[in-house]
Amino acid sequence: MTVARPDDLETVRDSYDRVADNYVDMVQSSGIGDIRRHPWMKASIDAFVDTVTGLGPVLDVGCGPGTVTAYLVERGLDASGVDLSPRMIEHARRLHPECSFAVGSAGELHADPSSLGGILGWWSLFNLPRELLPDILASFRRALVPGGVFVMATHVGDHDVVRTEAYGGVPVKWTTHQWQPEQLLDLLEDAGLTPVADLRLPADDISGPGVVIMARSACP
Ligand SMILES: C[S@@+](CC[C@H](N)C(=O)[O-])C[C@H]1O[C@@H](n2cnc3c(N)ncnc32)[C@H](O)[C@@H]1O
Repeated sequence: MTVARPDDLETVRDSYDRVADNYVDMVQSSGIGDIRRHPWMKASIDAFVDTVTGLGPVLDVGCGPGTVTAYLVERGLDASGVDLSPRMIEHARRLHPECSFAVGSAGELHADPSSLGGILGWWSLFNLPRELLPDILASFRRALVPGGVFVMATHVGDHDVVRTEAYGGVPVKWTTHQWQPEQLLDLLEDAGLTPVADLRLPADDISGPGVVIMARSACP
């Protein structure tokens, strides 16, 4: 279930390793990435939990320090997290020892076909080169059981924004690929994932506009 490796994968990994400590501080201080402090995002994750319960294990792809993974486990799911950045995974294991985490990339999931009830791509897929996202979504669809659920949150727009610093001025090298919700809905359909809901998030003081989309793997 491996798809082509992004050319900048190691650069992106190094960048997230560098920002991981600040990111964790910011989750605690500003609430960034903490769904408990963002009612509409929490509502989306709660809807995901309600929908996916009983379908099987859930994988949080790009879990960062594991904030959402831990919430899913607290809500009773058999959830684990995977992230490109070893430093993010170190934090996740330290902060949430009750959960299981691994270093890995979205394109190399090591999940058996039809083995997962749910997959999250929660603010973690925007660094993937545009041309790779369709194959990644198709690999997610193959990993899901029929009727399994995928939820993603990502940045809305039309640009490929080259970032040279992030999360408190830490030097990074990555591109944020913005998407229009309609483009994502089409890509999901093409991958065999039927959209069931989308939530538009207007820009605020901290972030630009975003979207949360939930989709179901088609039943045979
Ligand atoms: C903005 S953080 C979000 C972390 C977490 N989902 C949260 O909401 O707090 C983006 C995360 O995606 C991870 N990431 C980026 N590209 C990835 C890839 N190709 N595969 C797996 N994880 C990736 C980064 O290492 C980082 O931890």
